[in-house]
Amino acid sequence: MSRPATSPLGRRARRLLGRALVVVLALAGLSAGLLAFAWTTSAVDTADEVHFTRPLPIPPLADSTVDDDGRRVFDLRLQSGRTDFSRGGRDAATWGINGDYLGPTLRAQRGEQVAVRVTNDLGETTTLHWHGMHLPAVMDGGPHQTVAPGETWEPTWRINQPAATLWYHPHMHGETALHVYRGLAGLFLLDDPDNTSSLPNEYGVDDLPVIVQDKTFTDDGQLDDEAPMFSPTGFLGDTVVVNGTVGPYVEVTTERVRLRLLNGSNARIYNFGLVGPDGDERGMHLVGTDGGLLPEPAAVDRVMLSPGERAEVVVSMTPGETVTLRSFPADLGADFWNERFSGGDDTLDVLELRAADNLAPSAELPARLAPAPDLRAEDASVTRSFRLGGTTINGRDMDMERIDEVVRIGDTEVWEARNAGGTPHNFHVHGVQFQVIDVDGAAPPPQLSGWKDTVYVAPDSTVRLVMRFDAYPDPDSPFMIHCHLLRHEDQGMMGQFLVVERGDDVQPSDPLANHGGHP
Ligand code: C2O
Ligand code: CU
Ligand code: CU
Repeated sequence: MSRPATSPLGRRARRLLGRALVVVLALAGLSAGLLAFAWTTSAVDTADEVHFTRPLPIPPLADSTVDDDGRRVFDLRLQSGRTDFSRGGRDAATWGINGDYLGPTLRAQRGEQVAVRVTNDLGETTTLHWHGMHLPAVMDGGPHQTVAPGETWEPTWRINQPAATLWYHPHMHGETALHVYRGLAGLFLLDDPDNTSSLPNEYGVDDLPVIVQDKTFTDDGQLDDEAPMFSPTGFLGDTVVVNGTVGPYVEVTTERVRLRLLNGSNARIYNFGLVGPDGDERGMHLVGTDGGLLPEPAAVDRVMLSPGERAEVVVSMTPGETVTLRSFPADLGADFWNERFSGGDDTLDVLELRAADNLAPSAELPARLAPAPDLRAEDASVTRSFRLGGTTINGRDMDMERIDEVVRIGDTEVWEARNAGGTPHNFHVHGVQFQVIDVDGAAPPPQLSGWKDTVYVAPDSTVRLVMRFDAYPDPDSPFMIHCHLLRHEDQGMMGQFLVVERGDDVQPSDPLANHGGHP
């Protein structure tokens, strides 16, 4: 008996088909495996796993001199250095200001004229921006105020805003993420002689700067700035550093300690809370937000900070106890995929507070801290909408030559920031402090009830802000508005606005260069 002969062509076709099927199945299996792997390895959890073995360094207060004109003058030098991040004796190449990593804390009083001489000793051009400061746009240190290698830039302005925890960092367009990650950042504290509350205020003793950043290290101990696979927001590290130190602890010597928390990270959103010695979670008092003190202390369990935001909290301690500052999983309001890959499921131990056996008494928390923000949406004469989506604002990428908005001086305005996509964003406005009216129509929680300059905008939600532009008209120098997740900012999720005199005939979308005629 003979079988019908199969044609060689048919056999080859079947064989090829079979092989293709195997390849397709293998690829599908591989990518499914890859996804599963990425999913399970993407959540970081360092709860109870961080060894707090290094004393928290306190950034020094910057020296200053008062010159003949009565100006308080600071000197900042941007330089490269090497930093010991506890990677087995291998120092990492870093950048710092007057040092190897981060910079000194600047401190000035309301009413003072300050000047900062910023010298760039790095091999590349950068800028230094005063985040949260109310000042002329040309002094703001945004992407237009570049400082070339070897140059010194000397902005000067009068401090004219309430006591607050502000900060400074580079703003070089397209390079901000890298420059901040390498270490360029510092605090700028403002005091108000007319409002001295009885909050803990001895810098470095019961009033502690806490600059929180996340890092990843290469095998040879260098800073790795590669974003994890699938991260929609950019770089997320697995190691927390506070004031530039891994595994920090601080000896608390007073009954109450004030923490000035700064999220100085590129993309990570922290959800800070406290854990007592027995794993018991405990509360704290929120006393300040980005732009100053709250009207009154608010008892809170968690403080969520997206990049660029600050919070001041007061922690009460009992003698001899140890309390951990931990970042708990945050509710970013994203779908499960974006939540996970933006770090929303992560738990990170941050800082250990060790109370001495004898604690010096602290004053009671004051019942009143500062006047409440007093802007009213009803007083706004202008409403503007900003749609955050992809890497754009209102569908447009940052253009250094384009003016997106023109604000008339003296106007109270309502700005609506809407996140139209699935990715977490936040919204930062230069040159002004704003008040949050509502979040998706709901009244703001305590954390959003004081002065703010940066606010988280969850996917598919709208935050309404009210602000007043009451000084520094300049038709030639724009302020920035942007997402402070630094990769998004670098990718172009940024716009520019001018503040001009009422009669000035400047239109949005005019190229900046066309504003000629103004000296
Ligand atoms: Cu913190 Cu436009 O900056
Ligand atoms: Cu800013
Ligand atoms: Cu963003």
